Amino acid sequence: LIYLKRIYYTTEMIVAGLYILLLLLELAFLIGFTVYTIFLIYSGLKGSPYVPTKSKEAEFILKEIGLEKNKVFYDLGCGDARVVRKAVSQYHVKGVGIDVNPILITYARFLARIRGLKDIKLKVKNLFDTDLSQADVVYLFLMPGLLKKLIPKFERELKKTALVVSHGFLIEGWEKNMVKKIPHTPFPTYFYRRP
Ligand SMILES: C[S@@+](CC[C@H](N)C(=O)[O-])C[C@H]1O[C@@H](n2cnc3c(N)ncnc32)[C@H](O)[C@@H]1O
Repeated sequence: LIYLKRIYYTTEMIVAGLYILLLLLELAFLIGFTVYTIFLIYSGLKGSPYVPTKSKEAEFILKEIGLEKNKVFYDLGCGDARVVRKAVSQYHVKGVGIDVNPILITYARFLARIRGLKDIKLKVKNLFDTDLSQADVVYLFLMPGLLKKLIPKFERELKKTALVVSHGFLIEGWEKNMVKKIPHTPFPTYFYRRP
């Protein structure tokens, strides 16, 4: 009887332990989900919600740019920095990714570290506070309103030779600077040279 009681109590303890573990997991998931949602809304409020460039599209666009080794590649609003990471690993450029969202940048840094990428800087920053004078290529996947506001900054800071690549949306007001359009679906990509 004592033996049976011991088994009973041990089983009860295991079930209670599993129940607590499940509750903790649920709580962690809820907190994670809430924090993630808050930061997604934050990204949207800052000018552009987080929607990543599809991997295949990113590869195609990078090929079209024709990146050369050691050129400086910026992604303003880089999200998980998939485009910058690809540019660094496949074309050996110096990559800079800027995003206001600290969760996305933390995740991007984690991915860059586990892939052993060295020539990459990932910063939590507002893109308007970023100096662009060293950029050879600037990649953007941002909402049209934000793109339009960037024009004065581009004209002030970018090198004459810099290439601006806007995925998804036209830079309204910069039509005269467009050098190429890739009519991809669902998102075309526009290439510009600064005037
Ligand atoms: C459509 S996503 C593009 C992500 C990435 N460039 C890609 O193509 O995969 C836009 C990103 O811009 C970021 N963002 C929005 N406003 C910003 C701002 N003012 N400064 C920096 N990043 C911003 C958002 O957090 C979001 O990650």
